[in-house]
Amino acid sequence: MVQHAGRGIVITGSGSAVPTMALSNQELSQIVDTSDEWITTRTGIRQRRLAAPPQSLVDLAVPAAEAAIAMAGLAVTDVDLIILATSTPDDLFGSASMIQARLGATQAVAFDLTAACSGFIFGLVTGAQYLRAGTYQNALLIGADILSRWVDWGDRRTCVLFGDGAGAVVLQTADRDRLLGFELRSDGTQNACLTLAYQGDPQSLTGPVAVAKGTYQPIAMNGQEVYRFAVKRVPEVIEKALYRAARSVEHIDWLLLHQANQRILDAVAQRLKIPAEKVLSNLAQYGNTSAASIPIALDEAVRQGKIQPGDTIAAAGFGAGLTWGAVIFQWGPG
Ligand code: UT7
Repeated sequence: MVQHAGRGIVITGSGSAVPTMALSNQELSQIVDTSDEWITTRTGIRQRRLAAPPQSLVDLAVPAAEAAIAMAGLAVTDVDLIILATSTPDDLFGSASMIQARLGATQAVAFDLTAACSGFIFGLVTGAQYLRAGTYQNALLIGADILSRWVDWGDRRTCVLFGDGAGAVVLQTADRDRLLGFELRSDGTQNACLTLAYQGDPQSLTGPVAVAKGTYQPIAMNGQEVYRFAVKRVPEVIEKALYRAARSVEHIDWLLLHQANQRILDAVAQRLKIPAEKVLSNLAQYGNTSAASIPIALDEAVRQGKIQPGDTIAAAGFGAGLTWGAVIFQWGPG
């Protein structure tokens, strides 16, 4: 079944923004018991960018969004939908509205969407449904996260992996359809593998009435379980999305995976028999930036001229939830 019902959708712009502050593996090894050699060989990461204390998620998201809107050739007031995929909003009530205000996107409705490292893929499909239905014409999707706020900087099993950043794309309705197929999945039975969970202690208010007062606990992860899950499930979901798009692996010009670990990228590519030169990777510079990793890698490849208009991209995200999903699309308008 090809998922083309309704209006056509094109991705017409991309943008990204990362903090200037960098933390190298060497510097990290002075904080926890690790080494550049371990991190590089096990993950491919050499450094990560970290948001400086006053820098907010909105500060990162806005320039990424502005760059995407400019590439699309839109006026900001043309944007009628903003979706912010994030697990780390500045405000638990949501940060999308602040982005809408800072952009001056006065005609846009804005909301947050949480699906951890799959957030960008889930957001792409969510935005596409509004466009397919004819409800909106120009959607801005931002994937942004500041996981450094929630990492335990004393836990070497997790703190070496993550970095901060933001990426964005503009989706527009069009006669020609470039969003070819998708597949989204969730499995809450494996939720405990990767958490950033709220923990509260009872605070008595009056008589038997009590509330749970506390905060979110740092990221906790069973790395080996998540690794096994990704290497098994991501090829499956890409194959399913390809089937829905009536395409096969040979049609893929670029494999654009959530940037979690170079070994996961390599293993997924190997299982799908996709050659290494078609695999986009920027892990070495940024580490795992959660919902931002796919749009940052996309934007870099577009601006470097690697991705050309009409190229077919298989993008897949995976992470906490557990959630995972893939979208097959062709880059650019026309
Ligand atoms: O965004 C989605 C989410 N997350 C992921 O996709 C992560 C998926 N998992 C992974 O990428 C990998 O499992 C990790 C990179 C997290 C870990 O790599 P691994 O090859 O699975 O290592 P491991 O957990 O099996 O640990 C091997 C050894 C252990 O020591 P022993 O027990 O063999 O003595 C760990 O204690 O490496 C040790 N270790 C470290 N050593 C130095 C774990 N972390 C570190 C570290 N530096 N940072």
